[in-house]
Amino acid sequence: MKLLEDRIKRDGKVLEGNVLKVDNFLNHQVDPDLMFEMGEEFARLFRGEGITKILTVESSGIAPAILTGLQLHVPVVFARKHKSLTLVNDMYTSTVYSYTKKVSNEIAISKKFLADTDKVLIIDDFLANGQAVAGLIDICEQAGAVIDGVGIAIEKTFQRGHELIAEKQIRLESLAKITAFKDGKVVFESDQEA
Ligand code: G4P
Ligand code: NA
Ligand code: NA
Repeated sequence: MKLLEDRIKRDGKVLEGNVLKVDNFLNHQVDPDLMFEMGEEFARLFRGEGITKILTVESSGIAPAILTGLQLHVPVVFARKHKSLTLVNDMYTSTVYSYTKKVSNEIAISKKFLADTDKVLIIDDFLANGQAVAGLIDICEQAGAVIDGVGIAIEKTFQRGHELIAEKQIRLESLAKITAFKDGKVVFESDQEA
């Protein structure tokens, strides 16, 4: 998605450890117009699939997920993060390890909001090692819900998340694919095609 790539080029900052800072439009300050366009693009990609629900994880997945739900007219559920292991009977839970932050979090979704009749689209802001998406996939499997696909705003194709989703034979659509960071600049997959 050219609009998103241009925005990353303009406002993204490449940090140590292969991290792209996008707090100007996605992770802290949020640009609603850009989110709207991203929602339209995800909806274009996944419309007609019979999706009944969008799942994401708090907090940065919520904005793109909501704007996609607006287009597809389906509810959006965000998994909540918990610090400790709390055994709650009315929640589906999964443990998500962050390689970036070196912490484990429980993510949880109420059983009220996910059922075996659901066809799910997972949306998130970043795909790095894929642990957040893996946690959501695990929760869908527990609920017996069908996963139609995963929509990601910014994918770092050189990290493990892509493989993890492909292994499960789940459709993955990423709006901006970063293949490398080179000399403090972002290299997109689309740069190589051009
Ligand atoms: P993973 O889910 O793909 O395994 O991601 P990882 O554990 O590596 O990353 C942990 C957090 O950092 C996640 O956000 C993820 O979205 C974010 N992240 C990963 N790579 C980048 C990057 O290059 N740039 C930015 N800005 N974020 C990145 P989170 O902890 O769930 O936080 P939240 O922002 O959703 O609240
Ligand atoms: Na996230
Ligand atoms: Na994040």
